[in-house]
Order: sequence, then C-alpha cells, then structure tokens
Amino acid sequence: MLGFEIIGTGHYVPGPPVPNSALARVMDTSDEWIFRRSGIRQRHYAPEGVGASDLALEASKRAIEAARIRREEIDYVVFSTMTPDYVFPGPGALLAHKLNLQAPALDIRQQCAAMLFGLQIVDGLIQSRAARTILFVGAEAHAGFMPWEDWGALDPANGREATPEAKARANKHRALAVLFGDGAGALVFRATERDAGLRGMKLHTDGGAAKLLYVEGGGFRTRPYWKPTDYDAQTYVPTMDGRELFKFAVTRLPACARALCADTKTPLEKIDWFLAHQANARINDYVRDELGVPAQKLPSNIDRFGNTSAATLPILIDEQMRGGKLKHGDLCMLLALGAGVHWGCALVQW
Ligand code: ACO
Repeated sequence: MLGFEIIGTGHYVPGPPVPNSALARVMDTSDEWIFRRSGIRQRHYAPEGVGASDLALEASKRAIEAARIRREEIDYVVFSTMTPDYVFPGPGALLAHKLNLQAPALDIRQQCAAMLFGLQIVDGLIQSRAARTILFVGAEAHAGFMPWEDWGALDPANGREATPEAKARANKHRALAVLFGDGAGALVFRATERDAGLRGMKLHTDGGAAKLLYVEGGGFRTRPYWKPTDYDAQTYVPTMDGRELFKFAVTRLPACARALCADTKTPLEKIDWFLAHQANARINDYVRDELGVPAQKLPSNIDRFGNTSAATLPILIDEQMRGGKLKHGDLCMLLALGAGVHWGCALVQW
C-alpha cells in the first residue's frame, strides 16, 4: 500500500509583528487581558492589496525549495482558506498560476480543521494514484475582517488616535479580533513505499453549530449578495460565540483522541507529538491535561502568530520540521476544530 511523506515545508507571515499593545490603541483591550485569556502576544496582518494566494506563494516557494523538486513535479494543489482573494474562483487556481502550474487545484474550506480534511484528500489522491506529489497550502488574510477603521492608528509612530466612535464600533468585536493573525504554511507531500502516512483518522462535522462562528454578510441568500447596509451593520466581521466554541473544543477533542487511540489500538504514551490547532493556548492546555500529555509533546506557537486558521497546522509543522524535532518514524497525532463546526484528529507516521 502506498503511503505519503512530507518532503518539504515552508511558511510565510507578512509584515512586522503587531503586538497586543497596538490593538489596545483601537479597542478597549490590553496586553494583559489578551495574553491571559488566549496566550497571544503578537500576530501579523496582510497589507492592503495582499491576498491569501500571495501569502501562499511565498510559503510554497520555501516548501518547494526545501523539497528540492522542480515545480513541474507538483501534480496536484490543495488550497485551504476561509479568507479567499475573491468570492470565486478559489485561490487554489490563483496560486497554481503564480507558480506557473496547470495542475488541478482544489479549494477546500474547512477553516481551522482544514489540515485534517487535507490529509484525507492527500491520502486518497495518493492511494488512487491520481497524484504523486501534492502541494497542500493553508493561508489566511484575516485583516479584511478586522473591525477597526484606521489601520494607521495601530502604530504609535503615526501619532493618530482612533475616534471614540470607531473604538466603540470595534469594541463589539474585540473578543474575536484579538485572536486572529495572517500567514501561510505549505507542505509538499509525496507518495512513498516507506512505512509512513495516515494510520487513522476521526472526522466530525456538526452543521447545527455553524453559527458559533460565521460571517453573516456577503452571502448569496440576499440580492445583491452585498448590501450597502452591510458595512454599517459590520456583518463582514465574523460573529463568534467564544465560550460555546471553547466548551466544544475542550470536550470534543480529548474524546476524539481517545476514540482514535482505541480504534487503532495505539497507546497514548506511544505518540511522540501532538500537533494541535492553535485557537487559544488555554484550549490546548485543557486538552493536554485531560489526556495527560507532557507539555514538551504539544508544541505551541500561538504567542507569535495568534490563530492563523487553515495556516496554523502547516506553519507549526514547518517550524517543527525545520527545528529538527519532527523526524522520520515519529508517530504524530494532529488535532483541530474549526468553524463549521468541523473537528477531528489524525494519526500520522512521519
Ligand atoms: N479585551 C478586554 N476585555 C474583553 C475582550 C478583550 N479583547 N474581549 C472580551 N472582553 C471582556 C468581555 O466583554 C467580558 O466582560 P464582562 O465580564 O464585563 O461581560 C469578559 O471580557 C469575559 O468575556 P468572555 O467572552 O466570556 O471571555 P472568555 O474567557 O470566554 O475569552 C475568548 C474569550 C478568548 C474568545 C475565548 O472564549 C475563546 O478563545 N474561545 C474559543 C475561540 C475559538 O476556538 N474560536 C474558534 C476558532 S476556529 C476557526 O475555525 C476559525
């Protein structure tokens, strides 16, 4: 049976880091609140005019270089984002074009759980021999849904203050806005005869919980699908029930991990790495405590990037591989939960 391995990884984040103190200039919040509730210290934002496909291009170049392959060897592109350049077409086509490829490009939209669905797609493409070398990318440009109006006011060097009215509007979304950051992660998968690849997976979707995190504006239920009133109503900013999502994550993820271990007859202690989506450091602390996993087996980078949604796990994997931590033969569990609500976990022999 054919397996897969990751032969090259890369990530890219735009611009300088934006510290929590900058957000406190445009909303009523503080470094102390954000760090204590989420573990985040800073994040990056895509500049005006830069989309997910641009961030993805930089990450992909790095992954392709690390894989030491020619671009033309890529015979499939899988792209995940919840912040596409355009409503349609998806950014997979745009990225493939920027890489000068005409390989099929598939867009998936599983938000923060994208990496798990991506693994299943990659495994299926390789097993069916539809593809041998697959570029999987997660990239996000969340900056477009941030609720403040004057980006210049973030930087004290500009000497500009947000108006009280603009602050009041942004405050309505402060719990959400502090969490998200922009970036891209890219992984080059290749078919292998080596004993590596997917060992098992548990995936779930509960569309009944879709409104725990969703964007009300810009949908095709209305004519036209964008209304002039959407801006004033701030319906371009996602609506999030943070408390319910938090509860969802800390109950579903440990249960899912235990079920997958039972199904695959894998003792939890045999797993070398737990690579978890980074939505909130407190969620991962809960999951780790609940499963009794030592801290060093569950790496964290949320302090530097915030929640980069579909990009998070590819970025984390790139850091772990380049840092020489993840090695051939390691057994990894990947865990994620995202808007949908989609969640699950996967066991991968590296
Ligand atoms: N700064 C200061 N105060 C704030 C902020 C802020 N940024 N945000 C909220 N507050 C205030 C609230 O107004 C509230 O004040 P009150 O008690 O006077 O009413 C208080 O802080 C507590 O607010 P909560 O929303 O209850 O805070 P909580 O501890 O739940 O933390 C958070 C909020 C960080 C959003 C948390 O609920 C969370 O991380 N939830 C999960 C988020 C998540 O997993 N999202 C999914 C991403 S996955 C994807 O697919 C994209």
